[in-house]
Amino acid sequence: MTDTNTAAQNGRKARVAIVGMGIGRNNARAINKNPRGEVVALCDLVPERMDEFAQELPNGKEVKRYTSYQEMSRDPEIDAVFVGTPNQYHVPVALEAVRNGKHVMVTKPLADSEEAARRLVDEAERAGVVNMMSLSTRFGPSCVYLQEQARAGAFGELYYARARSVRRNGIPAWNLGFIQKGGGAFRDMGVHALDAVWAILGHPRPVSVTGVAGAKFGPRGKGYWYTRPQPAEEVWRKYAADDYAGGFIRFENGIGLQVESFWASHQPGEFQIELFGTDAGARLRPLTIYKMENGAEQDVTVNLPQTDDGSAWDNVAGHFIDCILDGTPCTAPLRHGMQVQVMMEALLRSAETSREEHIEQF
Ligand SMILES: NC(=O)c1ccc[n+]([C@@H]2O[C@H](COP(=O)([O-])OP(=O)(O)OC[C@H]3O[C@@H](n4cnc5c(N)ncnc54)[C@H](O)[C@@H]3O)[C@@H](O)[C@H]2O)c1
Repeated sequence: MTDTNTAAQNGRKARVAIVGMGIGRNNARAINKNPRGEVVALCDLVPERMDEFAQELPNGKEVKRYTSYQEMSRDPEIDAVFVGTPNQYHVPVALEAVRNGKHVMVTKPLADSEEAARRLVDEAERAGVVNMMSLSTRFGPSCVYLQEQARAGAFGELYYARARSVRRNGIPAWNLGFIQKGGGAFRDMGVHALDAVWAILGHPRPVSVTGVAGAKFGPRGKGYWYTRPQPAEEVWRKYAADDYAGGFIRFENGIGLQVESFWASHQPGEFQIELFGTDAGARLRPLTIYKMENGAEQDVTVNLPQTDDGSAWDNVAGHFIDCILDGTPCTAPLRHGMQVQVMMEALLRSAETSREEHIEQF
């Protein structure tokens, strides 16, 4: 493993490699913005995507470029790797990094299956490297605020929650990984809603999951992003994932959670979390606390100094760098990604079997 304490003592920055020039760009910008982080290498199968992004980096001329993540992982001048490939490649890329002693941060969802997620968590924990999920919703200021309020007991007992991510025309098809096995709406967007609400609820242990899921738009060539070139028929004919999923998770402590995700629907687009507590309730957007005071209903709008846009990435990058350089305990380890994956896969399995799924191993 890279000697992180020495790096911190030397005042050296955490040297990070970015794999995948899609969401990798947001993570890379935030790492570079942090005075203690530096993007030293890029990796993508398409060199032009790296060349284009390198132009906006302060060290754009020197930044290393790799088309092989295996070769990149052997570079001794890299301390940590961010994995931002399509879902199906998260685990192979991250495994290669941890096997070479690199700290690793993986975008959501952790994997394309529960089995792959477990394999990665086992190896990453055994390697003793910092291992973290990059979660732009959980680390957003509004979600952090609700987590802190919940931990401080502001809601009393939280006993029920709803979380949903709804798009009207938002099926991504620019990368086939999204619409094939291991992709789908729930692993892509439902994961944000589920992870964020699960964190606010204090990571309770799930007992059972029941769900429905299907594809009502994608296989008909409908519901794709308006703003992107529409996919050709030969692309949408390959559709093999869910474009909606919804279900109910029952937790050990009696909490109930209703969770939904739609890539396409005839409903207004929305990302929402609603909390039901014995002393107060809340909504994520707009951030509002509902309670009774002096015999009257009160709706308190919370205006935070930072917005979720942008500062969520800064928070993710800042925490990863603190974990690497200072040994700060990670609040979003890959294990959390795996536990969310266990719930997601159970919901999707329940949709297939039309039965409630019981969660034995968590
Ligand atoms: N808010 C968020 O946290 C957020 C937002 C968007 C996407 N994502 C996640 O990021 C991942 C990628 O999505 P995207 O929208 O950036 O996709 P994308 O297609 O825009 O980018 C993925 C990149 O990975 C590269 N790639 C694929 N296989 C590779 C390999 N083996 N080695 C190196 N590079 C490889 C591709 O060439 C491409 O440039 C997905 O898992 C998605 O869930 C997260």
